[in-house]
Amino acid sequence: MQHFWNQAPVASLIDILRVKLFGAQNPRAPPRAIEAPTLLADTPQLEVVQGRAAAEEYTVFLSTNYLTAGSDGPRSSLTADTLETLIADSGARPLLYRGSGSGSGSSRRELLGCILSAPLGKLYRAAMPGSAGASDFSLRLIRDFCVGATNRRQGVGTKLLLGVLRDCAMNCGGVQAVFLKEGAPLGLGASTPLRSSSWIYRRVAAGGGAAPRQVRELSLKDALELVAIYGLGNERLLYNRPPEGAAVATRIFLYEGFRGSAVAAFTPAYQVHPRDGAAIIFQTGWVETGTLLPMERATALRQLSDAAAAAMRAPWVWMDGACARGPVQPPWRADGPFHWYMYGWTADLYGNAELFLVV
Ligand SMILES: CC(C)(COP(=O)(O)OP(=O)(O)OC[C@H]1O[C@@H](n2cnc3c(N)ncnc32)[C@H](O)[C@@H]1OP(=O)(O)O)[C@@H](O)C(=O)NCCC(=O)NCCS
Repeated sequence: MQHFWNQAPVASLIDILRVKLFGAQNPRAPPRAIEAPTLLADTPQLEVVQGRAAAEEYTVFLSTNYLTAGSDGPRSSLTADTLETLIADSGARPLLYRGSGSGSGSSRRELLGCILSAPLGKLYRAAMPGSAGASDFSLRLIRDFCVGATNRRQGVGTKLLLGVLRDCAMNCGGVQAVFLKEGAPLGLGASTPLRSSSWIYRRVAAGGGAAPRQVRELSLKDALELVAIYGLGNERLLYNRPPEGAAVATRIFLYEGFRGSAVAAFTPAYQVHPRDGAAIIFQTGWVETGTLLPMERATALRQLSDAAAAAMRAPWVWMDGACARGPVQPPWRADGPFHWYMYGWTADLYGNAELFLVV
């Protein structure tokens, strides 16, 4: 069977070892594409979702099969309306993979899996001012990676991953992408994650308590200006600028403390929590400046999540536990690890990048 990671464009192990042992050769280089001459060989062509019926088929398939934490965990709540908006306003490309499944015994082409890529625009290395830090490619986010429950562990997932990268190469100008994986990291042979950390989460009480006094929402333009300024000294911070005119679902909030400030980005997970059917958002960006004292940091996380939950009407908030810098304290609860993987590009950061992603 064709294995995904043998075909996917990733940094070589020697490059990764070199950076881990000796540091990046040129730490100030912007993120750069890795050539992928073999990617298009034998990769399946997936069907792009077009029209209402296909959008409904996609969302029903996801809500039935995308149970990343099992049948008692969060469930996809992506609707056909939202999917059509993501296609029209954000340039998302949801893809379907059909074939003959294992269970049916027939040769009828059933829906075996789905996957989606969406444009994130150029990626920037924050330590380099202005456009000097811009990547030589436009990045895409891959999500909704899902294979039907009865057809797993037979290579369908690999076909979806190859298929989405083929689609990116043929229709979107390149195969450079990021992908969030929760739980265990991928096994040997896969690329090294861009960032690994652990989630913390909380449910914000109805009404969100008192209005957070030190937090305000930022426009995308103001937020990206602040990220660029706060990030100037930070070699590990990468951020994206979404394509001109694309609708953005991520919302960004600023906490201003006594001696330090933090900017946090939150993105809809398009999932609902099994306990009460309410919406989930997750943090896709964090950058801080100055000094946040430990007590103040706890206040910052709390007020930022309060503000995001209220503005986005999503009481369940997942944040990167590393932002808390210490043991998990109430109201937060610990969840499992997560990993951001990069396909087709490198910034010489393996495992410890800091990200500010606007989706
Ligand atoms: C994850 C899932 C799509 C894998 O599908 P599958 O058909 O069982 O996958 P395959 O049989 O092709 O094997 C998995 C391959 O994909 C890779 N893989 C597995 N999970 C991956 C992930 N999240 N990201 C990237 N690659 C992944 C494995 O390394 C393996 O590659 P290999 O063949 O080179 O060893 C499937 O289990 C699923 O739909 N789960 C529920 C939804 C979910 O958890 N999605 C992932 C969200 S992060």
